[in-house]
Amino acid sequence: MSFFTHLECSVPCGAPPFDPRQRQFLCRCGAPLLARYDLARARGWSRTTLPGREPTMWRYRELMPLFDGEEPISLGEGFTPLLHARSLGASLGLDRLYVKDESLNPTNSFKARGQSAAVTRARYLGASTIALPTAGNAGNAAAAYSAAAGLTCEVFIPKDAKRPFVDECRLYGAHVTLVDGLITDAGRIAAEQGGPRGWYDVSTLKEPYRIEGKKTMAYELAEQMDWRWPDWIIYPTGGGTGMVGMWKAFDEIEAIGWVAAGRRPRMVSVQADGCAPIVRAFDEGAEKARPWEGATTVADGLRVPRAIGDFLILRAIRASGGTALSVPDVAMVAGSLKLGAREGVSAAPEGGAALSAVERLVASGRIKPHESVVLFNTGGALKYLDALAG
Ligand SMILES: Cc1ncc(COP(=O)(O)O)c(C=O)c1O
Repeated sequence: MSFFTHLECSVPCGAPPFDPRQRQFLCRCGAPLLARYDLARARGWSRTTLPGREPTMWRYRELMPLFDGEEPISLGEGFTPLLHARSLGASLGLDRLYVKDESLNPTNSFKARGQSAAVTRARYLGASTIALPTAGNAGNAAAAYSAAAGLTCEVFIPKDAKRPFVDECRLYGAHVTLVDGLITDAGRIAAEQGGPRGWYDVSTLKEPYRIEGKKTMAYELAEQMDWRWPDWIIYPTGGGTGMVGMWKAFDEIEAIGWVAAGRRPRMVSVQADGCAPIVRAFDEGAEKARPWEGATTVADGLRVPRAIGDFLILRAIRASGGTALSVPDVAMVAGSLKLGAREGVSAAPEGGAALSAVERLVASGRIKPHESVVLFNTGGALKYLDALAG
């Protein structure tokens, strides 16, 4: 059984609670909605119940958006390994450098978590067609989970996206529309076509449940690190659901007493030099991010010129005492190749970007040798091989 109760504005703007038994998307004020749980009752849920549970993100089902007796749409997502990167750590003077390897999820990226949760709710709410704009990985995950749920999937993807992303959507039976533009243009066209047809829109943060899947990365980290937080989390950031989800999870985990409230990990958003709206807003001290003009990067997942949850990402970075930085494509590719050659990890350029950020933060003295660092390899390398081969 789950302690899921209602949905609430993320600002919060004062709007009354939203009923999760109805389709809900954004708040009336335009901000994302967040799932809320009865955390006072959840304090009675002991973490000692976890060992022996299924090795997926649904092992935390009490704090996931499920109703009584409901089974999620699952392909085995989550509970990915936390690898001790000894070789790369030694070269950086870090004893405790870890890679949370999200490439081992179904469809090879952390997007599986979000889509497992979103498609589970969409099916419950009677959707027959799932629709979304995507940089690539989210579309692959949505297509796979829609197939598993018996739903139709409509994917809108920039026409210059790497070919394997398009082919994999089709492999799962999705209908793909190639869009002349960026993910933001794809989002507009998906809404124009899907709105009148009643398609269920699972765009990043426009529906409240992808973030619930992503938050489980923090639950797993806590469990895998024996209920202590690392000093640093290094996260490649596009739309930001991972950052926002993990920050939400910290609130929940502290509220139920699984990790003592106190010092949380410093959150680092890593973006591309060619598309860094969050980094610019962080440096300017702004609460929201201006859209990035002419976005370009080899890391498709980071080519997000405008994030609807920008203020939530910026809040998390600042509240944690973290930072935001961008890296050039050439450094991302070098990072992917190092993760491969030194640790045996299949890393997308997004994961390579996270390693490049660690190198910079160590070189500048911001990350200290005794500190523990978790970098997120958000996806695998195979769909980017052309770019990685240079
Ligand atoms: C491999 C990879 N890493 C990172 C991201 C960015 O994720 P988020 O939108 O949660 O910031 C994406 C998004 O497409 C991605 O595919």
